[in-house]
This record gives sequence, structure tokens and C-alpha cells, in this order.
Amino acid sequence: MFKRCFNCFGGEQKLEISGQIKNRDYPWDIYTLKELVNATNNFHNDSKIGEGGFGSVYWGRTSKGIEIAVKRLKAMSAKAEMEFAIEVEILGRVRHKNLLGLRGFYAGEDERLIVYDYMPNHSLITHLHGTLSADCLLDWPRRMKIAIGAADGLCYLHHEANPHIIHRDIKASNVLLDSNFQAKVADFGFAKLIPDGVTHLTTRVKGTLGYLAPEYAMWGKVSESCDVYSFGILLLEIISARKPLEKLPNGVKRDIVQWALPYIQKGDFNHIADPKLKGKFNREQLKNTILIAMKCTDGNPENRPSMLEVVDWLKSIVVEKRKKDIKIVKNISASTNYVDENENNDYVDDDETNNEGYIVRKKEPRLPISESKMRK
Ligand SMILES: Nc1ncnc2c1ncn2[C@@H]1O[C@H](COP(=O)(O)OP(=O)(O)OP(=O)(O)O)[C@@H](O)[C@H]1O
Ligand SMILES: [Mg+2]
Repeated sequence: MFKRCFNCFGGEQKLEISGQIKNRDYPWDIYTLKELVNATNNFHNDSKIGEGGFGSVYWGRTSKGIEIAVKRLKAMSAKAEMEFAIEVEILGRVRHKNLLGLRGFYAGEDERLIVYDYMPNHSLITHLHGTLSADCLLDWPRRMKIAIGAADGLCYLHHEANPHIIHRDIKASNVLLDSNFQAKVADFGFAKLIPDGVTHLTTRVKGTLGYLAPEYAMWGKVSESCDVYSFGILLLEIISARKPLEKLPNGVKRDIVQWALPYIQKGDFNHIADPKLKGKFNREQLKNTILIAMKCTDGNPENRPSMLEVVDWLKSIVVEKRKKDIKIVKNISASTNYVDENENNDYVDDDETNNEGYIVRKKEPRLPISESKMRK
């Protein structure tokens, strides 16, 4: 099965589940189960870093003393098999300083294990909302560096990888931080490979609530600009340390753009900054970064910038070589209006049988509840 899935993504490599590699022309290893059991102390709970939709992640140390993170996929299903194959296939294709490196994998019987470089500074979510948030390790320059790094990684996927890759699950837990707080974009299990000349695909909706572009959440229309939208949400999250979606006392959900917009309209950009920064940030950089985030989260995908532009703008903001007037024409749209049937689970997967079939939402999305324009 694994072999079949793997090959359906066009990989040239010939693999055998037994661990034997033929025609090896890729930079990853096939591990033995024993090696990974030893490295993680038999997947001991104390070694567990976290848990996501597809399984648990464990810290480990190999016999050569190298720290690794091992993702152990949940019970194997055709869908999980597909995710595993996509992840390995895509990660094997890409190498970039801002993308999490794949060290290898194990595939045997009903175990699927993916081995990554271990990221000692965990993920953005840990710093923004999790166990390390009180430590305030993310000062302003670090936040800008992380934003630029994540943008660079995404830009590589969109514009340099061949075929182009749409990530489809850009979010704070998928931006990991190495020992120098360099951002590494992770989790390509949802990614889509885009053949040359194709502008968008219609697909079943996967991703995480709060980060989904409206046209993707509502119509399953996926293109690079869906990632740009998610990146815009992430940018606001990095700046403000607020969650992408919050539940108001009256039960209504509000997204981070809707929260930020009144302050932006008043010109009160400083209010959007994370209070834990205690006012220590560059005002001009803050303002321009917020404006970029607003451009990225435009309701109309055609108005969103490319990641090439985003990287260029973010870098120019930081080095202050040139000051670009970032004109914002913002259509506030339905980003929060996706039907959430599971209050405690922000993860969306509309795909029961995913066999790369295209479309169809099972439920009608809510229509946009508000629309307004802002010009600057
Ligand atoms: N290489 C790594 N080094 C350090 N921590 C990691 C590594 N890979 C994943 N993690 C952390 O492990 C936790 C679980 O990750 P996982 O990708 O399984 O789930 P998630 O990103 O929270 O959700 P989803 O399943 O929707 O992607 C996250 O907090 C993630 O940041
Ligand atoms: Mg993840």
C-alpha cells in the first residue's frame, strides 16, 4: 500500500518496505523499528512532545547521539497511509533553511514513523499560547526574524519547488524553531503538488479553523493564495499573541482580523502588539507588518500578494532600505463563518475517503456576515 501511494506522486525512487533501498538518490534514511524504539525509550510518555491530528510526536536520541523528533502516526487507514506517503514524498523533494528537514522514516506492518530534526525551541504555538508563553522568549526582532523565515520557507514551496507546493496547513504549531530561533515550516502531510500551468484546484477542505481562506473553506478552491491568507493570520498572531479564533462571551466566534480591524481603522496599531512585549517594538515595523497581514487576508484571493512580494516587503521593513507604501484594499469576508461542528477541535477535514477526488463540501457554508472596505 505504502509503495503504491508513494509512487502515485510521481517519485522516481524505488523503495521496499523491508528497509532495503534501491537506487538511492535522496537524502533520507530508512530506519529500523528497533532503532526508533531505542531512541524514544519505547515511545515512553516522558518522551512525548505533543499530539496532533495524525498522531503523537516523541523526542529521541539516536545511537549516534543525534536528537530527533519521531511522529508516530495513529492507526493506519487508507487516509493515514496517503498522508504518510505525501509527507515523505514531499519532504524528500524539498531542502531549504526554513523548512523542517526529514531525516527518514520507518514503514512496516501497521507502524508508520516519520523522523525529523528535533527543534529544541519547539513551535510558535508553545511560545505564543503554550507552556513557554510566560517566559517571553520572543522579543520583537525575534518575531520579525521568525515571520521572515516562515515567509521564506513558504515562498520556496510556492515559487521554487518543482512542482510547486501548496502547504494547506500553515499555522503556529507548524512553525518550529531551531536553537537559533530560525523558523522551520513543518507538516507537509496536507500539501498539494501543483502541476505546471494549473492555477487552482478544487479539493476537499482540510486545515485548521481560523486559518482557512474563505474561498477554500466555502468552495474548496485551493491555490497558493490560500497559504498567503493563512500566513496573514499567522503574522497577526505572531504580533499580537492572540489566537486566530476566539469565542466571545455571547458564544459568537471572532477571528483575529475582525479583532484587529477596529484598531487599524483608528490608526491604533500599537494596541495590536502583544502586551508581553511591554511596548518594546519598532512602531513603524509593527504598523507595516500589520498592513502586510491585512493584505494577505484580503477576502478576494486575487487581491492578495504572492509570497515573493510578502518576503520582499517583510525584509524591506526590517532593513529599512526602502519604504514601500503598502496600499491596503481590504474586503473583510467570511473567514470566521465556516461552520464549526466540533467546538473543541479546530481541525477541519472534509475528506472521508480521500482518494484525491476533487470537491465537495458536505455542508453548506454560512454566507459572509459582514463586508466592509478599508483604504489606507
Ligand atoms: N521536529 C520537531 N521538533 C520539536 N517539536 C516538534 C517537532 N515536530 C512536531 N513538534 C511538536 O509536536 C506537537 C505535535 O505536532 P503535530 O504536527 O503532530 O500536531 P499539530 O501541529 O499540533 O497539529 P496537526 O496534526 O494539525 O498538524 C506540536 O506542538 C509540534 O510543534
Ligand atoms: Mg503539525
